[in-house]
Amino acid sequence: MSNPVKLSVIYYSSTGTGTEIANTLVAEAEAAGAEVRLRRAPELAPDSAIDANPAWRANVEATRSIPEATPDDVEWADAVIFGSPTRFGNIASQLKQFIDTLGGLWAQGKLADKVYSGFTSSATAHGGQESTLLALYNSFHHFGGIVVAPGYTDGAKFADGNPYGTSHVDAQGQNKVDDTTRAAAAVQARRVVTITRALRSA
Ligand SMILES: Cc1cc2nc3c(=O)[nH]c(=O)nc-3n(C[C@H](O)[C@H](O)[C@H](O)COP(=O)(O)O)c2cc1C
Repeated sequence: MSNPVKLSVIYYSSTGTGTEIANTLVAEAEAAGAEVRLRRAPELAPDSAIDANPAWRANVEATRSIPEATPDDVEWADAVIFGSPTRFGNIASQLKQFIDTLGGLWAQGKLADKVYSGFTSSATAHGGQESTLLALYNSFHHFGGIVVAPGYTDGAKFADGNPYGTSHVDAQGQNKVDDTTRAAAAVQARRVVTITRALRSA
């Protein structure tokens, strides 16, 4: 497709749940015709903390080939999907630190008029997924962004039940990303690409 929608998927994941969701979003967005950059927020935790959790170390090693996010990945994109695990009902400091590097682009008005959306995961049901996504969306409003949430725009959304964005309950690694969450990610990816394409041609 000529002049494809440019999408950046920028996420943080400690133990790999977010990585699985991000990979699904990338595949679905590419299938919908987008050119996609997958980027991870730089890790801030010390090796001692990472090494204390085998799943965290495994995810660090498994994602080394994914480039670290830079502000250019946001400037380049027509749409950005950000992802973070729930941290006490809020986004992880690693993703927030990356977002806080965007002040220069914000001051130049270069974050405005893009499409933004978000995804998350938590250990428990009702563990703060919606508050995490809404906290992320606060920043999108400050950007002057156009928030594209999935809503209940597809029958699949009645299975995962989160209209704010793709989310997954991982039961601290016991509950792997499943078909319900993959279907939610597919809806979100397609919707972000479709709406972005329509906005660009408006
Ligand atoms: C410091 C910290 C705070 C957390 N806070 C919550 C929480 O408030 N609610 C919850 O359900 N899970 C919480 N979790 C669990 C993670 O959000 C959850 O396991 C998430 O799916 C991990 O995603 P990841 O595998 O992409 O890192 C917390 C984990 C950590 C390390």
